[in-house]
Amino acid sequence: MSVDFPKHIAIIMDGNGRWAQKRHLPRLAGHKAGAKAVERTLRAAQKNGISFLTLYAFSAENWSRPQEEINGLMQLLSQALDDYSHKAMQHNIRLWFSGQRHPLSPQLLSQIDAIVQKTAKHTGLTLNLALNYGARQEILHAVNAAFAAGEKALTQETLHRYLYHPDLPDPELIIRTSGEERLSNFLLWQAAYSEFYFTPVLWPDFTEHDFEQALAIYKTRTRRFGGI
Ligand code: FPP
Repeated sequence: MSVDFPKHIAIIMDGNGRWAQKRHLPRLAGHKAGAKAVERTLRAAQKNGISFLTLYAFSAENWSRPQEEINGLMQLLSQALDDYSHKAMQHNIRLWFSGQRHPLSPQLLSQIDAIVQKTAKHTGLTLNLALNYGARQEILHAVNAAFAAGEKALTQETLHRYLYHPDLPDPELIIRTSGEERLSNFLLWQAAYSEFYFTPVLWPDFTEHDFEQALAIYKTRTRRFGGI
């Protein structure tokens, strides 16, 4: 089956640290440049009519990084959310959060909650921010929530209803930058039939053109979903 236009693109934004290292800058400078690439990518996704964009901003495993980097990243995320809050209002963007709340700070969580609420009725692009996200954690959360709700024998459909966002379509395309070719506990359930696009480009260098290149490659793929 040839591909339909992708509704959902998910991105593992990798390579901020190496980008900074190459320039003899602190790692945080790489994350700051990465935040600019997020803006470019949002524009590209909107321009290309993508409905859902999931960005892996902080994994459940990223807490093992040096405290200074974690603090810097959290501050950067908070600043970026402030900026996006205005842009989301201007551009009809809806913000979703995917991840575990604990141990994110109450300040960051209330900032996220406010934007999620403020943009809930927007009908443009949905930006799904995967923050303190781990796919195994999401699946376990779904299983436990299903049992707590009294479900007995889980089916794929039932489990799906207890994922962080049951209305999020599976990503047709997953992009990972920086030359690494693995999923790193990202969307394991939803990626069952996703196409992958790996690029050596480091995330801070990722441009609208790179996004469109990934889309163009995706369009050349044949998706069979186990058929022939
Ligand atoms: C991976 O690069 C990137 C991250 C862990 C953080 C991603 C965060 C941003 C792009 C900042 C802003 C995000 C938003 C949504 C506003 P790495 O540090 O693992 O790079 P390395 O593998 O080269 O060390």
